[in-house]
Amino acid sequence: MQIIHTIDEIRDATAPFRRRFESVGLVPTMGALHSGHLSLVRESMSRADRTVVSIFVNPTQFGPGEDLQAYPRPYDHDLELLEREGVDIAYLPSDTEMYPSGWSTRVAPPAVANQLEGQSRPGHFQGVCTVVLKLFLQILPDHAFFGQKDYQQVAVIRQMIRDLDVPVALSVCPTVREPDGLAMSSRNVYLSVDQRPAALGLYRALMEARRAVQQGEVDGHALMNEMRQVLIDSGVDSIDYAVVADPDTLDVLDQIDDRTLGLVACRVGTTRLIDNLWLTDPPAG
Ligand code: PAJ
Repeated sequence: MQIIHTIDEIRDATAPFRRRFESVGLVPTMGALHSGHLSLVRESMSRADRTVVSIFVNPTQFGPGEDLQAYPRPYDHDLELLEREGVDIAYLPSDTEMYPSGWSTRVAPPAVANQLEGQSRPGHFQGVCTVVLKLFLQILPDHAFFGQKDYQQVAVIRQMIRDLDVPVALSVCPTVREPDGLAMSSRNVYLSVDQRPAALGLYRALMEARRAVQQGEVDGHALMNEMRQVLIDSGVDSIDYAVVADPDTLDVLDQIDDRTLGLVACRVGTTRLIDNLWLTDPPAG
């Protein structure tokens, strides 16, 4: 596995792939890799001839007071995991490589970025779009792999790809969960044993909403109240949102549609957790 830190080197390393008509898959990450990330890596390995995994804790997507400094950075362990998976290139640019002094151009994210996470984390998706587009232009992948876990991020990037005619095929991989249902996240390391039941509330609330939909509930507000109650009973410290929404626009739905998603974001102690689940049958493909 090649370990690369600069834009010049990543261009040099990926050019021969393209010359040989080998397809390139990119898995963008912020490291602290877990089985969720590795499921994306495996999908890329099976779908593309070459796989590049980027690890970059992107400062522009963190707001003031968020966990940029505390974000886990176990780089040696991450590299071991990627080596074991047989990844071709691990790309770890520095902050100054990505954002040299004088840098000032940013991507204005699409409208769907203004919903949910956009309300709770102003500027977050501008940082995500900017770094993802930069990674695309540095690596020129054919495919890019993202997790359903960050559903709104997928919706935002999909629209950016469309709007800016980016020649990258996006694949969305299912959320990988702990045996108890907690969605895997690099931020789960912040949770104490005592906070675990509250953290599990997110999944329980979503499952409860799905069960209600399967039993015929169509009232969006009844479902959202039920989700909130499960979250409160589980002991979360605060709820940023708990909604049933249209999967394309992320507009809150008064009535369940045949494509409806549940999305939640909560704080457990100081840790902010998000999760989502299809409440109706997930779309095929
Ligand atoms: P990060 O949180 O490290 O996640 C990298 C990718 O792994 C994302 O596509 C995310 O949705 C996916 N992922 C995380 N947990 C998952 C799980 N439990 N199951 C399946 N996939 C999971 O998302 C980011 O980094 C950044 O915003 C990034 C896109 C790298 C831009 O900086």
